[in-house]
Amino acid sequence: MSLASNWLPILIITLAAFTISSAIVANESAVRERPQSRIFGGQNAAEGQFPYQVLVTRTFNGSMVICGGSIISRNYVVTAAQCVNGYPASNYWIRAGTVKFNTGGVVIQVAEVKIHPQYPTNSYEYDVALLRLSNPLNYSDTIKPILLASVELPEGTPTIISGWGGVASGGLANELQYNTAYTLNRTSCIQRLNTIPESIRCLVKSAGNGICGGDSGGPAAANGVLIGISSFYANSCNSSLPNGFTDVIYTRDWIRANSDSDCTCSA
Ligand SMILES: *[C@@H]1O[C@H](CO)[C@@H](O)[C@H](O)[C@H]1NC(C)=O
Ligand SMILES: *[C@@H]1O[C@H](CO)[C@@H](O)[C@H](O)[C@H]1NC(C)=O
Ligand SMILES: *[C@@H]1O[C@H](CO)[C@@H](O)[C@H](O)[C@H]1NC(C)=O
Ligand SMILES: *[C@@H]1O[C@H](CO)[C@@H](O)[C@H](O)[C@H]1NC(C)=O
Ligand SMILES: *[C@@H]1O[C@H](CO)[C@@H](O)[C@H](O)[C@H]1NC(C)=O
Repeated sequence: MSLASNWLPILIITLAAFTISSAIVANESAVRERPQSRIFGGQNAAEGQFPYQVLVTRTFNGSMVICGGSIISRNYVVTAAQCVNGYPASNYWIRAGTVKFNTGGVVIQVAEVKIHPQYPTNSYEYDVALLRLSNPLNYSDTIKPILLASVELPEGTPTIISGWGGVASGGLANELQYNTAYTLNRTSCIQRLNTIPESIRCLVKSAGNGICGGDSGGPAAANGVLIGISSFYANSCNSSLPNGFTDVIYTRDWIRANSDSDCTCSA
């Protein structure tokens, strides 16, 4: 049974002429049986290559909501609001310290979900949330925090996007996938997507590359610093249109005020 037939974006809205979507719900048993597959244009990450990447999940009725997240301190993971909206914190879990999908590493229950107060639930504005963990992470070669960006990057800066989300051959990735996209200024992004929320920054890539369902909430990192949180893609995962990410600089004050990341966690 192909997982692709079970994909249901948890949020699909029409923004201008485009359909944008991101996080997905998958059938848990189908997820376990999914075939070998690869991300849109990406490649396998080595163990410990992205030690800040985590999987964020909620399981219910045999289904699973799948998202990514980034470790910003021993106690906090940053993800997208769309991934953790509407259910008690105890329904959510993170898995850290592994490139394998939903196996290995450590699994920790979420103790508290903090959704940005200006997240409107019906668009991708302020699509950011913090997860306070029920047990602190132990840092290791495969579990490390990432710094929050504080300085705008030049146009065209290479940025690494990563996640276990949908791959071109169908289904989710068995191994963490990564790919490169490039910073795109707001004016250029609006020319491509017509309109974007204030809190969104765009990354551009060629057709056949980029984020897909299940990558939401995951990191976009440039020079080893977190610049974006995966929020949406336009039209299809195979589209040549830019991907949307919650801008870490734009939302940084809220992230810092609501977590325990101190000044040593920004760069
Ligand atoms: C999930 O997939 C299994 C095996 O393919 C199937 O038996 C089951 O009915 C599915 N569950 C849901 C909730 O779709
Ligand atoms: C789980 O399944 C029950 C029974 O089919 C249904 O009433 C309930 O709404 C489902 N819960 C969710 C979160 O889908
Ligand atoms: C961290 O290490 C301590 C001491 O070994 C252990 O008790 C605890 O369960 C670990 N926590 C996690 C989240 O791995
Ligand atoms: C945005 O990028 C385009 C293409 O590189 C450039 O022509 C334009 O001047 C830039 N606009 C701003 C406001 O930086
Ligand atoms: C993805 O886009 C490329 C180029 O437009 C096209 O050749 C290919 O068939 C598309 N693949 C899918 C799965 O839609």
